[in-house]
Amino acid sequence: MVAFTLPQNSKIDAGKTWPAPHKGDLKEFRIYRWSPDDHRNPRIDTYQVDLKSCGPMVLDALIKIKNEQDATLTFRRSCREGICGSCAMNIDGTNTLACLKAIEDVRGPVKIYPLPHMPVVKDLVPDMTHFYAQHRSIEPWLKTTTPTPQAEWKQSRPDRAKLDGLYECILCACCSTSCPSYWWNGDRYLGPAILLQAYRWLIDSRDEATGERLDNLEDPFRLYRCHTIMNCAKACPKHLNPAKAIAEIKKMMVERRL
Ligand code: SF4
Ligand code: SF4
Ligand code: FES
Repeated sequence: MVAFTLPQNSKIDAGKTWPAPHKGDLKEFRIYRWSPDDHRNPRIDTYQVDLKSCGPMVLDALIKIKNEQDATLTFRRSCREGICGSCAMNIDGTNTLACLKAIEDVRGPVKIYPLPHMPVVKDLVPDMTHFYAQHRSIEPWLKTTTPTPQAEWKQSRPDRAKLDGLYECILCACCSTSCPSYWWNGDRYLGPAILLQAYRWLIDSRDEATGERLDNLEDPFRLYRCHTIMNCAKACPKHLNPAKAIAEIKKMMVERRL
């Protein structure tokens, strides 16, 4: 039998247990730590947080840890209300937004990792470079051939309603990083987040580049690696359904051949 050895830096070491506050309603947080600067394996550090002096969300606890215990803990956040998408991470085994995840909804220690299957910049910060390049590749802006109107581009109410369930996407990548097809083929498969965005422009009544956009997706990998596993819809913290948007694109592909 052949024995395989994992690369050294793929193993996660036991980390540091930080001193607990002296009193309070303590909750344990186990957090993934890795820095490109110290040439060591990733590790899991353990912190205790007093819930009596902490806000209700996991992001509140991360900020409290950073402010009061360990200033080196690194994560992204901005709006703290589910709008910017920057605090996406894996909490208690699920990709979600730290600012929308209530601490009380996690039983036992709160385990926090970066979004899965993405390169890590540091600690809980994934490298989104490839994800954003894929977004750019679908040209996420209005494309028209008729002359620009004097005022706004008009749209009927029913046409505007077609964008509901699409425009709310905050590009957090929770869906794409929970998609097995994206894990294995993310170099060429666009993944649920970007395909939902692509559909948002395909279905926009003001856009005049539908054929060109479909041509751009007509490829065995970019679109057709979706196997309707539905992890994406389950993971989306905004309750959107990227799998449905992907199915609609596939339908448009068939319809234009008829
Ligand atoms: S439905 Fe498609 S995009 Fe969504 S998780 Fe499954 S394979 Fe990925
Ligand atoms: S569809 Fe949902 S999970 Fe995916 S990027 Fe948009 S908001 Fe995030
Ligand atoms: S901080 Fe903006 S979505 Fe969480």
